[in-house]
Amino acid sequence: MRVAVIGVGCSKFGELWEMGFRDIMISAGVEALEDANLEGKEIEAIYVGNMSAGRYVGQEHIASLIADYSGLADLHIPCVRVEAGDASGGVALRQAYMAVASGMHDVVIAAGAEKVTDVPNAVEILSSCADVEWEVFNGANLPALYAMIARMHMRRYGTKEEDLAMVSVKNHKNATLNPKAMFRREIDLETALNSPYVAEPLRLFDCSPICDGASVVILASEDVARKYTDTPIYIEACTQASDYLALQSRRDITTMDSVVQASRKAYKIAGIDPKDVDVVEVHDSFTIAEIIAYEDLGFVEKGRGAELVREGVTMLDGEIPVNPSGGLKAFGHAVGATGIRQAVEIVLQLRGDAGKRQVDAEMGLSLNVGGTGGTAVVTVFSR
Ligand code: COA
Repeated sequence: MRVAVIGVGCSKFGELWEMGFRDIMISAGVEALEDANLEGKEIEAIYVGNMSAGRYVGQEHIASLIADYSGLADLHIPCVRVEAGDASGGVALRQAYMAVASGMHDVVIAAGAEKVTDVPNAVEILSSCADVEWEVFNGANLPALYAMIARMHMRRYGTKEEDLAMVSVKNHKNATLNPKAMFRREIDLETALNSPYVAEPLRLFDCSPICDGASVVILASEDVARKYTDTPIYIEACTQASDYLALQSRRDITTMDSVVQASRKAYKIAGIDPKDVDVVEVHDSFTIAEIIAYEDLGFVEKGRGAELVREGVTMLDGEIPVNPSGGLKAFGHAVGATGIRQAVEIVLQLRGDAGKRQVDAEMGLSLNVGGTGGTAVVTVFSR
């Protein structure tokens, strides 16, 4: 069964002190229902990506909470929370996609939500996406692990700190065009290169921020979708792959095999090549991750990722615009919400609803990664 996206919603991303977890989630949900012109009673199931509500806000059992607080408790529909670190949103999207593709349900919600900024130890909790016993206990939290990846990429392929900074400058520029982004300020190369090291060679402007937010997409089977919208966006493939959790076990820390595997499977299912993709959202939790994503998604050969940013290929007006939303770096990275938030951006781009950051696109792709690549979800969309 072909699956379409018929509605999207997204909260603002940032330090949302004035909103609780449930308020953030509901603001995105209401927007998606309005966008789809749908009533809650038509929803048949909900899949929510969330990394760690138990540790961030002290609340488990959030799937039931969300159905309840959305006013859907009386429908008694199945509501499922899924967790895969910061790939939780992508995995929720895939579960929702499979529920519709299989014919089990006609209209489902895929959501992602995280309220991170209420705790003082957010980076410690985030870093539990890596191998806590083998990596984090020894001081290798996520910024440190990505720093090792960056250092190896630099040594082996000649990638420079300037290249990493260029990714940040690009994504900050895109975010100025996105009203819901956390950082809507342009930065120059000098600012990025003069910011303090967080984990050498990664500086403040190489890191995605600590951030709250929620996103929702509503999926429907093709026949049902036509009742609600004249502009359905189709999901051509939604694939997931895993890898060793700890970097030390990987065959090559500059390649995410989960991304390679998931993307090759997605291209095969969708019947496309990387060159057919017009717009992309990748998981730039750190700037080096965006450069590696260019390579692992097959846009350029291994080791030459930095050339794409140097030559402007991935700018908004480039050949393959990457992270038109501002990416995790500047739009923000609300952990479990990110995979869905990326889908929202691709859908807006393909519908022609992306405002000042609109690019010309018929086929889009999103890549959501958990931790340093233990999980990857690749989704291909078409209009
Ligand atoms: N990029 C740009 N500016 C940032 C920023 C970021 N990632 N994070 C914070 N800032 C800014 C703040 O807006 C603030 O600016 P102001 O003084 O003008 O208001 C200033 O830097 C200090 O903010 P603060 O919240 O005190 O930052 P921090 O030093 O506690 O944390 C990082 C900054 C980068 C260390 C933190 O965001 C981090 O660890 N990020 C990585 C998270 C991570 O591991 N993600 C993994 C995903 S796989």
